[in-house]
This record gives sequence, C-alpha cells and structure tokens, in this order.
Amino acid sequence: MAQQDIGNKVPLHTLKTANEVKAFYDEWGSGGQYNKDMQSWNYTGPQETVSVFSRYALDPASVIFDAGCGSGLVGKELFSLGYHQIHGGDLSQRILDTVPTGLYRTLNQMDLNVAVDVLDDTFDAVLCVGTFTFGHVKSDALYEFIRITKNGGLIAFTVNEGVFISEGFERTIKSLEDEGKWQQCVLSKSNYMKSKGVSAWLGLFRVVKI
Ligand SMILES: C[S@@+](CC[C@H](N)C(=O)[O-])C[C@H]1O[C@@H](n2cnc3c(N)ncnc32)[C@H](O)[C@@H]1O
Repeated sequence: MAQQDIGNKVPLHTLKTANEVKAFYDEWGSGGQYNKDMQSWNYTGPQETVSVFSRYALDPASVIFDAGCGSGLVGKELFSLGYHQIHGGDLSQRILDTVPTGLYRTLNQMDLNVAVDVLDDTFDAVLCVGTFTFGHVKSDALYEFIRITKNGGLIAFTVNEGVFISEGFERTIKSLEDEGKWQQCVLSKSNYMKSKGVSAWLGLFRVVKI
C-alpha cells in the first residue's frame, strides 16, 4: 500500500507515470486518509496560498479554478473566506469523490499535463497547491493556466522546492515574465509541510493579455 511507504518524507519522487500518480491518490484519498495525514503533518500549503491570494483577489465573486484540487483543502480555505464560485479538477476520481458536497460548483476528472477542456479567458483566478511536485504536473501547465485565465486575473501556486529548478519551474516562471504573459506579485518560500522537512515556493502572478 502506498501509505506504508510514507516515512520522513512523502515518497512522491517514486511516482513516474500518470497511472502511478492516479493509483497513489486513488488509494490515499480513500476513507479520508489523505485529509487525516495532512492534518497530522500540519500541511499548511492551502492555508498559506489562500491567505496570500486573498490579499490580491478582492472580489469574493471571483470565479476560481482549483487545479489538482484533491480532497478540497484549498476549496475549504477559499469558501471560509467568502469565495463561493469555485471549480475543481483532479486526476484521481476517487479523491474527488471525497470532496465535501457544496464546496465546488463543478468537479471534473482531468489530466493537467494535457490541454484542459476549458475555453480561453474563463476564470478570474487559478490556484494550484501541492500539485507541482515530483512526477505530478509539469511546468508547461502554467501556459494552460494563463490561457484559461482572464486578462488581469491571478494565478497562485506552490512548487515543491525539490522540483523548482530540476523540473524547469524557475525557468518557465521567468520566461513567462520575459514574454510579458504575467507579472510577479509574490514569489517566496513557504512553510508548506515543515513537519516533514518539505518546503515549497509560493507564487502569485497577474495575467497580462494586452
Ligand atoms: C498533494 S495533492 C494536493 C491536493 C490539494 N491541492 C491540496 O493541497 O490538498 C496533489 C494532487 O494532484 C493531483 N494530480 C497529480 N497529477 C495530476 C495531473 N496530471 N492532473 C491533475 N491532477 C493531478 C493528485 O491526484 C492529487 O490530488
């Protein structure tokens, strides 16, 4: 069982293919185990990201896409701050099945490593927390997030420090800025999952489409 492998760090670096990642979360999500582990490990990624996001997204009616929403921890934080127009997508249908009813307007199973079935300029914001990590979603997804976000909208995300340089996130983030596709509001280290010795970069960028 995947959870039995969890020692000092979450063994995400062992996951290579989309099927392996999906199977991992199908199992971890079942019976609410993912939420129990995140609580006992004091996983602060959702709370930290939503806290930064709320300082820039002043309209509670913002239409938000939670990319790689998992069990809905980001949705819970957003909802408690008054954002109620939230849509979610995730690779694992089994973990989506554990999301509390009423948090999200829509929930769809999807692979964020391929083009998503969403029209251009649909959302006021995209949040992606915990999903840019070993073997999960690649940095190219940031181009897709920009495509589906409106001009002036926000993209907030975490990137596990272990893949930030090696998987090209630092380079892609800078390229997007050089290409004038977004402007940096925040890019700093967050606590993320301090109890496991895992840190992440937390970014918040404003989309530019003119
Ligand atoms: C560490 S969890 C984070 C979940 C949630 N955002 C949170 O902060 O609790 C990573 C999530 O990314 C999802 N995921 C991994 N690869 C994916 C992909 N290619 N497309 C969509 N979701 C993916 C997993 O199914 C899992 O729910």
